[in-house]
Amino acid sequence: MTADDEFERALERAAVRLGVAERVCVLTGAGVSAESGVPTFRASDGLWEGHRIEDVASPFGFQRDPQLVWTFYNARRANVATVKPNAGHHALKAMEDRWGDRFTLVTQNVDGLHRAAGSKNVLEIHGSLHRTRCTLCREIADRGLEPLPELPACHCGAMLRPDIVWFHENLPEDIWEAAITAAHQCDVLLVVGTSAVVHPAASLVPIAKRSKSPGATVIEVNLTPTEASAFADIGLYGPSGQVLPRLVEQLG
Ligand code: OAD
Repeated sequence: MTADDEFERALERAAVRLGVAERVCVLTGAGVSAESGVPTFRASDGLWEGHRIEDVASPFGFQRDPQLVWTFYNARRANVATVKPNAGHHALKAMEDRWGDRFTLVTQNVDGLHRAAGSKNVLEIHGSLHRTRCTLCREIADRGLEPLPELPACHCGAMLRPDIVWFHENLPEDIWEAAITAAHQCDVLLVVGTSAVVHPAASLVPIAKRSKSPGATVIEVNLTPTEASAFADIGLYGPSGQVLPRLVEQLG
């Protein structure tokens, strides 16, 4: 059997499992936005666009040099302002249309592209580039992607930070609880474009797998196998912007 035949068989099996699923949960990572032109995180040099992760994505980095952190996030905001959702985002929106409120999209992405594609039931467990949070009064504000000052301040006078979950920080409790519930309840978990190395996000995969008997069917969509592959019943290896529309088409 050729690799193409194997892929087609896996696609058929995935569509059959999805077709009988009562509840569907999706976990997405940076890979789903790669074809839109948003860079993924884990380059082989371990740096994010030339910066050490600790310097730009941790509370300590922000304390040390808020200007550097804002320069980094303003550049990411400016990049995201120029990109559009791709066929993978649109396919996930089409799935939400099919399952309605029995479909939950959990994303680690902060780029807002799932919402831009029209997805509604989206749990942004790592926050959003669109929002700021006050370091003092904690007010969260949606700023869209308009350019922000180099060191933006809150109306209360204190410094603002991006409303992003950084390393060494906890996920927003209510959003994370909702994600766990969706993983527990789903019949199929679709794991798309994530290296599945960052926890607790990646733990949604074993949670779904072990939540009930016989456990959710885990379908992985990625360019390559990942840390999640050990839990995957079906692997669809290829760009999500091509694989997800094929899956929707196969579902009929
Ligand atoms: P990573 O950069 O770790 O992984 C991206 C994954 O996408 C890899 O497994 C790639 O193989 C895959 N990929 C790349 N292009 C793809 C495509 N066109 N189609 C399908 N898959 C593709 O990104 P994440 O797993 O999202 O956290 O990283 C998780 C978290 O680590 C991020 O949310 C971020 C980072 O630290 C925070 O900012 C808190």
